[in-house]
Amino acid sequence: MKIKNICCIGAGYVGGPTMAVIAQKCPEINVTVVDINENRIAAWNDEDVNNIPIYEPGLSEIVAEARDRNLFFSTDVDEAIDKADMIFISVNTPTKTYGIGKGMAADLKFIELCARQIARVAKSDKIVVEKSTLPVRTAQALKNILENTGNGVNFQILSNPEFLAEGTAVDDLLNPDRVLIGGDIDSTEGKEAVSSLVEIYANWIPKERILTTNVWSSELSKLTANAFLAQRVSSINAMSELCEKTGADVNEVAKAVGMDSRIGSKFLKSSVGFGGSCFQKDILNLVYISKSLGLNEVADYWEQVILMNDHQKRRFAANIVKTLFNTVSGKKIGVLGWAFKKDTNDTRESAAIYVTDYLLNEQAEITVYDPKVKAEQVYADLDYLNSRPEEENRKRVKVVNSPYEAGDKAHAVAVLTEWDEFVELNWDDIYKNMLKPAFLFDGRRLLDRKEKEKIGFEFYAIGN
Ligand code: NAI
Repeated sequence: MKIKNICCIGAGYVGGPTMAVIAQKCPEINVTVVDINENRIAAWNDEDVNNIPIYEPGLSEIVAEARDRNLFFSTDVDEAIDKADMIFISVNTPTKTYGIGKGMAADLKFIELCARQIARVAKSDKIVVEKSTLPVRTAQALKNILENTGNGVNFQILSNPEFLAEGTAVDDLLNPDRVLIGGDIDSTEGKEAVSSLVEIYANWIPKERILTTNVWSSELSKLTANAFLAQRVSSINAMSELCEKTGADVNEVAKAVGMDSRIGSKFLKSSVGFGGSCFQKDILNLVYISKSLGLNEVADYWEQVILMNDHQKRRFAANIVKTLFNTVSGKKIGVLGWAFKKDTNDTRESAAIYVTDYLLNEQAEITVYDPKVKAEQVYADLDYLNSRPEEENRKRVKVVNSPYEAGDKAHAVAVLTEWDEFVELNWDDIYKNMLKPAFLFDGRRLLDRKEKEKIGFEFYAIGN
């Protein structure tokens, strides 16, 4: 079946960029991205394309090209479902914060709402594509909901997990290592649905990079990929602590180890800990699934990746306190970077949030600078932790528009996001305006130790 109309439910970090690229590469397909968040949709439709709600290098150019040609953003979910031959579900699947599985299982209520809405609205056959990251066997639940509406519509369910990384989303979408499509490959209708999605991607991706599998393999592969990636970060971070105690340098170790072609060099960069909306929630989800199936050893194995990551954030913050003569009470600390990594304005699970929270508990005064994150977001992230009254967060944390202001009269500066611009700062000036001794904590191995020590900084870097 040739797809003419696509609807994507969820205009977030995945729905927005993926649909923009599909629309750009397939001008003959109408793509409508819908969301219940009116502000988000208004921002996607903002006349000034620089105001779209998600910052990703190269994204605004693609949106400018395709928007109002064959790419549309709307809050009318029913209408978009009705018109579509293919519906991507790209809504959030956060960790449950209540009830059974609290703090571990994926909360599928948004997914279920989508399924019920599709079931209610659909009058013609649809292919429903799971784009969100879901527990293995979710497709079965979707099928049950969709097929029990009694209105005679046929649904095919595909799993097409997204492997893009924020910060490089556009490049990843234009040139992915692979695209994975899971479907009911034992039936003719299932095979047809799979091939109609393959045809869409084949407009710009070589066919040998488009993998097709059964639905369960596809769902589980996404969780596995994130678990493996996060595990590499926790593995190198574990070594970083050992390096600090032994005089080895984690960057040198990572290079030596990564040059082994069996291991490979990617995702071996030690840091203050991984963040982002996915790694933690997907591993917790994997741990929960394993436990529910009675696979306790499997669950414990993967849970350790998260425990190590929590430890890394905590020990970085604790080291700041220890180095500043065991107290940061009343001391100004400049935080450079709030996003969970460079080139994104996404702050979900960012290490900066947890390090700042720790320092606030130690009564520090924090000044934050991030080139892409707004003050409201910083406060929202801290308020979400519920560690202290909201007014206190506003009193003790200042968000500023310049890195120099963050360092001004500070006892210490901590680099928590690896923004390129932090390398190029005039560190002489920052040093001059800080209190002495001026402490600099590099949580990203971004800065040159020798240079910074020459300026006069007391320099600490992860794993060195
Ligand atoms: P997001 O939170 O940025 O976007 C989700 C959007 O869905 C929100 O704007 C929300 O308002 C909307 N939504 C929720 N329920 C809705 C409903 N019933 N009808 C209409 N809209 C609704 O989330 P993000 O980051 O885009 O993630 C989406 C999924 O993709 C998650 O399952 C995530 O695990 C997965 N994923 C995320 C990646 C990332 O880098 N952010 C990468 C790969 C997968």
